[in-house]
Amino acid sequence: MKNCIIIGGSGFLGMNLSKALSDAGHIVTIADIAPPVEKSKFKNVKFQKISYFDSNTLKDLLEGQNILYHFAYSSLPGTSYEKMEEDIAQNVAYSISLFKAAVKSKVEKIIFPSSGGTVYGETTMLPIKETAETNPICSYGITKLMIEKYLYMFNKLFGIDYLIYRISNAYGPGQNSNGQQGLIANVLGKLIRSQKISIYGDGDTIRDYVYIDDVTRAFVEGIDDRLKNDIFNIGTGEGYSINEIINNCSNIVGKKPDVEYLPKRDIDVRLNILDSTKIKSLIDWNPNTDICEGIKKAYEWVKRNLK
Ligand SMILES: NC(=O)c1ccc[n+]([C@@H]2O[C@H](COP(=O)([O-])OP(=O)(O)OC[C@H]3O[C@@H](n4cnc5c(N)ncnc54)[C@H](O)[C@@H]3O)[C@@H](O)[C@H]2O)c1
Repeated sequence: MKNCIIIGGSGFLGMNLSKALSDAGHIVTIADIAPPVEKSKFKNVKFQKISYFDSNTLKDLLEGQNILYHFAYSSLPGTSYEKMEEDIAQNVAYSISLFKAAVKSKVEKIIFPSSGGTVYGETTMLPIKETAETNPICSYGITKLMIEKYLYMFNKLFGIDYLIYRISNAYGPGQNSNGQQGLIANVLGKLIRSQKISIYGDGDTIRDYVYIDDVTRAFVEGIDDRLKNDIFNIGTGEGYSINEIINNCSNIVGKKPDVEYLPKRDIDVRLNILDSTKIKSLIDWNPNTDICEGIKKAYEWVKRNLK
């Protein structure tokens, strides 16, 4: 049993992880600027309303914590180029302060969700292995890579363990259908509300969609000592185009989609499918949720939580 703190734990990934960790018997603290939507459902989960930008609070916050999940982020792949300086000033600089505080508080391991969808950039070798070149074409991908490098440096200089997961496109219950991120939740929300679906490009962009329970299982397993001081892809190895996802969602909701195709954005890579054989060779993890089953569960959640 470990004391686990999730910075940014009220969001999509954090909320699902806090439940999975508490179900597994760990003691969980969520530290976030906003309360978790479904907090009342979880056992052994404490909530602290805190911004990790406030360095004065970090020492007390991290005292006695074994595992630090750093999930807070202020930028998104699609919009990070608008405020690149802020992306670095906030996400990179404050992550460094957080890691310094973690060293002082003797946290055992920092677990960081990097971005399998953006750190590699354009690539022709599919599925993408962790050894592929990293040439992000959006600021978000660059700041994620910078933080990866700082985690490596903190381990070398101060001995604190880290684990980096380069996650593909997570989807499922808990994802906001009004957000700027998460194609599946967004399309489901638009279909239910009979609204127009706006897509950048012709809908042929291929992504690797990984179901949230598969992702959270990997994060719970991340406590395991076999997974440390390394980088692992977390994806399914299968790709679907945006048009295929829209059709799938439309069949599940039972409504015809009204799709508007906008000009392609230069910050979106055309193809992204991850090879996750590296983590599978170390632990018993498999992203085995079928995409239709996953979309059905996401649909049930979005229907119940429409805003
Ligand atoms: N969702 C995905 O598919 C995906 C894929 C790869 C990587 N990631 C990364 O995983 C992490 C979590 O993603 P998510 O989808 O749950 O995002 P999310 O936006 O749902 O959650 C982020 C949480 O961070 C909190 N937060 C923001 N600034 C904060 C601050 N200063 N102090 C404390 N809390 C703060 C927000 O209130 C929010 O609850 C992010 O770092 C994201 O970049 C997500």
